[in-house]
Amino acid sequence: MNGRDDDTPGQRATTAADGIGPGVESQQGVEPAHAEPSQARPDQAGRRPVEGAPVRNGPGPGGDIVLEGRGITRDYHVSGGFFGGRKTVHAVRGVDFSVARGKTLAIVGESGCGKSTLARIITLIDPPTTGTLLIEGRPVQISGGRPPRDLRSRVQIVFQNPHGSLNPRQKIGNVLMEPLELNTDLPAAERRDRARGMLEKVGLLPEHFDRYPHMFSGGQRQRIAIARALMVNPAILVLDEPVSALDLSVQAQVLNLLADLQKEFGLTYVFISHDLSVVRHIADDVMVMLRGEVVERGSRDAVFADPQHAYTRTLFAATPVTNLDAIRARVERKASRRRAMQEQVASR
Ligand SMILES: Nc1ncnc2c1ncn2[C@@H]1O[C@H](COP(=O)(O)OP(=O)(O)OP(=O)(O)O)[C@@H](O)[C@H]1O
Ligand SMILES: [Mg+2]
Repeated sequence: MNGRDDDTPGQRATTAADGIGPGVESQQGVEPAHAEPSQARPDQAGRRPVEGAPVRNGPGPGGDIVLEGRGITRDYHVSGGFFGGRKTVHAVRGVDFSVARGKTLAIVGESGCGKSTLARIITLIDPPTTGTLLIEGRPVQISGGRPPRDLRSRVQIVFQNPHGSLNPRQKIGNVLMEPLELNTDLPAAERRDRARGMLEKVGLLPEHFDRYPHMFSGGQRQRIAIARALMVNPAILVLDEPVSALDLSVQAQVLNLLADLQKEFGLTYVFISHDLSVVRHIADDVMVMLRGEVVERGSRDAVFADPQHAYTRTLFAATPVTNLDAIRARVERKASRRRAMQEQVASR
């Protein structure tokens, strides 16, 4: 497990934030116990219908629901440009979802459809305008105050953003120990031990502890980002295009690492990606977004086998299939055609 990267240093880096950085300074508190956040009745599998969104048959999240959104909406008020005034951007509109422990929900959709906005809401970086987010069954308040420390550390995020969050002047050991300093009272020796242990878990070496970010390849930096996100023992990892900036071979290594870590720690993933072959590889359930709304969701197999919404079909048709199975099938088809031709020639 955790095979190391063979990508070259200097490759476009991918980095991450731990969800406890500056962006999380503002926001939320826990909703009072008497609050009544639910907007729609769940179906038998615990799913809540979104108006107009085909909810597929299939296993659904089932089991122990770790993450749930009910009617999540996020508006941004932006300047109207040269002629002034204010405009409202409805980035996310009435989104319902739930994810069971240890499962992966993939979110797909065109650029600007609201995926990262939803990711920031789930990781408590931004509050929703309306709607309720529940983390391990605990409702998180929409506005005002900060969520308690323990709730913040339950959800972490890994970004595609290559330069966003690894401080070039901070050694990797300190990058990993920092979330423990901010979120726990562990003594320094324990923080150091845990950081070294996590380096190993993500396939890096003990001697990397004292190195700086620029001394790592893109794939290795993404491993560091994943390690940092896991330092505070989260239940949920939101992965916003985590492998999109990596070479194909390195993508596969990082995806394998994520699969190993999910199994080992029982992690729940929200995985955002443009790449449908990656989604097909990693997802249990798929949610398709269009202009801030969910237009289709269901089990991976159901959505891929028989997409219901016209937009999903267009999205799938526009994406070349690059997965390994398709390549193998193509190679096999060519080989069998060659064999058939050889047999024909031999039988003449
Ligand atoms: N801070 C902000 N202020 C104003 N508008 C914003 C802000 N953040 C996002 N938006 C707008 O909200 C919409 C959704 O953006 P978002 O970044 O969530 O899309 P996305 O699906 O992640 O796109 P991509 O695939 O390109 O990353 C876009 O129209 C975007 O311009
Ligand atoms: Mg995005």
